[in-house]
Amino acid sequence: PAQGRLAGRHILVTAGPTHEPIDPVRYIANRSSGKQGFAIAGALAALGARVTLVAGPVALATPPGVTRVDVETAREMAAAAAAALPADAAVMVAAVADWRTEATGQKIKKDGKGPPMLTLTENPDILATIAGDARRPPLVIGFAAETGDMIEHAIAKRARKGADWIVANDVSGDVMGGDDNSVHIVTAQGVEHWDRMPKDQVAARLAERIADAL
Ligand code: C5P
Repeated sequence: PAQGRLAGRHILVTAGPTHEPIDPVRYIANRSSGKQGFAIAGALAALGARVTLVAGPVALATPPGVTRVDVETAREMAAAAAAALPADAAVMVAAVADWRTEATGQKIKKDGKGPPMLTLTENPDILATIAGDARRPPLVIGFAAETGDMIEHAIAKRARKGADWIVANDVSGDVMGGDDNSVHIVTAQGVEHWDRMPKDQVAARLAERIADAL
């Protein structure tokens, strides 16, 4: 059996972007390397947790000891996350596309009649759904990538989505795809400011913080 502070715990992590197909060759997506989410999954597993990592399309190796479920769209991610319950904690790091469109089976051609109109439909909010589930994990953590008024937005997001913690990160610099991150942890107790550090270290500290809370 696994050893460590999180031995016997099951933790759900979502990571990466989702891709919403427009046609067989095009899609709508958010910018996300998946690095921070994969690092968190690995750090939780290193503390002995059983980790289910629901991953959107990314080019990353599965961290040791992590069970990975690959998905493409937000709706697939929502289904895989729900199927992973029950869990002791959920860490929703994925950059889920907010909208999808009705994909066509054939490639849309440039026909000289101008660009096609895309009708967008809102995707399910996976974090809010998990936070409101009858089998809600005791600890639900969301992320907030913001470019301004970060803390205010994170506090509002925490309430709106029913999360216990929001990890706010400022993505106005070179955080996207980079190896460092600068985060602030928003909880019911207040806001903790963490120094800028490598994403692996953010992950290790967050995993310890989760172990403290469970
Ligand atoms: O609303 P916003 O996208 O800024 O919220 C970010 C948080 O919500 C992240 O934890 C993200 O994983 C989660 N989220 C989600 N499903 C969505 C949109 C966001 O789980 N459709």
